[in-house]
Amino acid sequence: MLNLENISFKYNKGKSLILDDISLKIEDRSFTVIVGSNGSGKTTLSRIIAGSIKPTSGRYLLDNELITSDNYHLINSKIGYVFQNPEETFLTSNVEEEIAIGLEFGSKEKVDIYNIINKTSSELGISNLLSRNVNDISGGQMQKVAFASQMVLDKEVMVLDEPFSMLDVKSKHEYWNFIMKNKVDKTYILITHDLTFSLFASNIIVMKEGKILKQGKPSDILLDRELLLSANLLIPQSLQMLIDKKGISKIKNLLNKGDESKYLEEIENYES
Ligand SMILES: Nc1ncnc2c1ncn2[C@@H]1O[C@H](COP(=O)(O)OP(=O)(O)OP(=O)(O)O)[C@@H](O)[C@H]1O
Ligand SMILES: [Mg+2]
Repeated sequence: MLNLENISFKYNKGKSLILDDISLKIEDRSFTVIVGSNGSGKTTLSRIIAGSIKPTSGRYLLDNELITSDNYHLINSKIGYVFQNPEETFLTSNVEEEIAIGLEFGSKEKVDIYNIINKTSSELGISNLLSRNVNDISGGQMQKVAFASQMVLDKEVMVLDEPFSMLDVKSKHEYWNFIMKNKVDKTYILITHDLTFSLFASNIIVMKEGKILKQGKPSDILLDRELLLSANLLIPQSLQMLIDKKGISKIKNLLNKGDESKYLEEIENYES
């Protein structure tokens, strides 16, 4: 379990607090979605969670251990992080090497590394990219490669900062299906503008101007129009369609089941 208590943060020399008294709990194997408009502090918060920056004040507990300078490495051993801008994180020039590099530091046999890379890249639809130069692929493909290179490490928690921002619809679905398939084994923290991806979350955190405006189950957040308006967020089209057709109370049940297949079934029933 991950526990942030009264976390505040200022960038160097910055006068204003970029994160202001953030407290949140993330349960093991839960799926948290952090949403908020541009500049609300989502990336800054994700960097703190992933250990790439340290909070100015507040406490960070990981599996009930208080994180200090002495055990800071714990974060890296448990949490994988996919940056908003994947190019920043590439360490090599070749796609396959890039996915392999973290694994090669571990104790796995070469043949196991080969199998893990092949399985993950095939499921993500990037097998055809393995021999390519990381600088010659599209932004969306870079996002998938960055994700694959973290995913193969099989850490307990995955923090994904706007992972789909440069992907086309088909690639987005491939990527999303991969996450849904692996959802049960890991804790996911997904940062996104697009509330569609929060429909099946265990918890949604809404940020505004460095603060948490509200956190709760999808039905608490997605059906609260005033909140969405105040946070400058748009309700997903598919959800709006179902609300119009079926009424909020039915949709509330559906959302709280957190079952993507039932939701899609309803959408299909509605469309047919
Ligand atoms: N390195 C930095 N130095 C100083 N200020 C920064 C730095 N990075 C971000 N900021 C400021 O911190 C605030 C929050 O930025 P952050 O990137 O965390 O927001 P965000 O919600 O991820 O935005 P976006 O949706 O655009 O990705 C913004 O006002 C931004 O200008
Ligand atoms: Mg950001």
